[in-house]
Amino acid sequence: MPVGDERQWLESRAALIADSLLKMKPDVFGVGRKDIVNGVPFLLGLMDKYDLPLISSNIVLDNGKHPFPRAKIIDWRGKKVAVIGLTYPMPERDRSLGIRVEGWEESARRTLELVKGADIVVALSDLGFDDEHELARRVPGINIIIGGGQGQRLLPDPSRVGDTLILRASDRGRQIGELNIAGASLSGGWRLPVAPYQVDSTRAELEKARLALDAEKKKPSPSSAEVERLGKGVEILSRSLKTLEGARPVSFSHKTIYLDDSVKDDAAIAKAVSSLGPNPEEVRREEIARQAMELAKKNQALNPTPAPTPKNRQAAPKAEASPPAPPDNTPYNTGTVLCRKCHQKEYDFWVKTPHYRAGNALYRQKAEGECFSCHYTKLVFSSGAAVEQVVGCEACHGRGSLHKGGKEGISRAVEESSCKRCHLGFHEGKVFDFKRDYGKIRCDGKGL
Ligand code: HEC
Ligand code: HEC
Ligand code: HEC
Ligand code: HEC
Repeated sequence: MPVGDERQWLESRAALIADSLLKMKPDVFGVGRKDIVNGVPFLLGLMDKYDLPLISSNIVLDNGKHPFPRAKIIDWRGKKVAVIGLTYPMPERDRSLGIRVEGWEESARRTLELVKGADIVVALSDLGFDDEHELARRVPGINIIIGGGQGQRLLPDPSRVGDTLILRASDRGRQIGELNIAGASLSGGWRLPVAPYQVDSTRAELEKARLALDAEKKKPSPSSAEVERLGKGVEILSRSLKTLEGARPVSFSHKTIYLDDSVKDDAAIAKAVSSLGPNPEEVRREEIARQAMELAKKNQALNPTPAPTPKNRQAAPKAEASPPAPPDNTPYNTGTVLCRKCHQKEYDFWVKTPHYRAGNALYRQKAEGECFSCHYTKLVFSSGAAVEQVVGCEACHGRGSLHKGGKEGISRAVEESSCKRCHLGFHEGKVFDFKRDYGKIRCDGKGL
């Protein structure tokens, strides 16, 4: 398409997005912030034209009406699945768009009333990581939240708050998440994996407690108080063992499918994408930048910058006090999601260790910045930084950006001092024993 009207380009692009999304035969789409940048009427026009199943529970027009359906009920294997949609409020922007986006808590509560009686409630959210966890905590009755927006995208596995399972989607259609809940009973909430060593060590403790009880009973004159105390211990341990064993198997499975080169493009869509061409607005901006650059070069030729002498060095304006850019080969953390692609076995082990749950520990209480250094792992992408809310692979094996397989760019064994960055007795009462604890978390499972 020739460079021309921006509006026309936007419409063509929107049509292309609608066409490709519809190929997935979706049941429902939640309206996100980016979907309304061109105004609500624009999106409503598309919804009508393409029959897009959009919902938003909390976008309201100036006249008080909801422009999008507030919820949708889908029939899934004989069960009624209610889907609600929460859009992130941005009051100032909303005013300029002629809409109001209601606060999520109130809106979620009211919409849940609307879908009362559904078997499963799913919330599509654009609220961001933190508010989604807050939503699960404050508004009971949502079984699954599929989130997007601010905060960490693409959790290695769903997280859970109370009886709500939270999944996070990434952007630009780079992955598909698959959550399988067939056969799950939702009445008891979601069950997460339990570490095998937790079961084993509880079983061993129970065995020990039983032996002690027997020994006391066999004494010539057993103390009844001691028999009662030991008996209670055995009872408690058998109960926790039962709970731990009962906690398996988990009540759902989840996987992320990467839409990389191994997934073939749809020929018609690929053709449409390449014929869409660049955004005319961007083309114009680039052209202006190019002209400015040329002008600068010409000026430079006429008035060359003097060679640096001590004098003109002094006269030169001070450089901005910005940190030096790292050389390209400075290693950085790439994230557990990437490691998993090649190390599924170790990943499956790690998921069952407490390190995978380290972020959850912070949800139960007000976490301050100081908590993050041990409970989260910092990621650095080529631009911007983020954290993963786990003690990720790279917290132990080192930054992985230079590791492309083989033994290079990563360390296998983990030094005691490395564990002790975090296991230094910050929380009183726990004793870290490197030898014993190493065995519990080593990913090859050789310590169990
Ligand atoms: C210096 C590292 C470090 C810091 C800082 C830290 N933690 Fe921890 N946290 C740990 C370690 C290690 C454990 C595992 C138990 C242990 O060895 O003490 C743990 C365990 C916990 C647990 C128990 C988890 C469970 O499921 O049993 C909670 C809750 C917790 N931390 C919350 C916090 C909060 C809240 C903060 C901030 C105020 C914080 N932690 C700061 C290292 C740290
Ligand atoms: C708490 C620290 C810790 C974390 C977190 C951790 N590992 Fe490990 N990993 C170890 C230890 C310890 C070993 C055993 C090293 C040895 O002594 O040989 C190990 C071993 C491995 C090995 C070698 C296995 C073999 O059979 O040769 C791989 C691969 C590995 N880890 C990948 C991962 C991946 C991927 C993740 C994240 C999903 C991860 N690790 C998270 C500590 C950790
Ligand atoms: C593109 C695939 C790929 C990715 C991505 C990848 N690895 Fe590896 N990794 C390998 C291969 C292949 C080996 C060599 C296995 C062997 O020698 O048996 C290896 C070896 C390792 C080892 C053992 C090294 C040793 O000295 O024996 C560790 C630990 C490890 N990887 C951790 C990680 C971590 C952590 C990440 C994420 C930052 C990661 N890997 C990402 C393919 C990958
Ligand atoms: C980046 C910080 C960090 C590093 C590095 C780290 N851990 Fe941890 N570890 C934690 C946190 C946080 C927890 C608590 C997780 C929870 O239960 O929520 C934990 C929990 C554990 C637990 C369970 C403790 C309990 O009482 O339940 C063991 C065992 C453990 N770590 C062993 C190790 C070993 C061994 C290493 C080194 C090979 C290591 N960790 C490295 C942060 C770390």
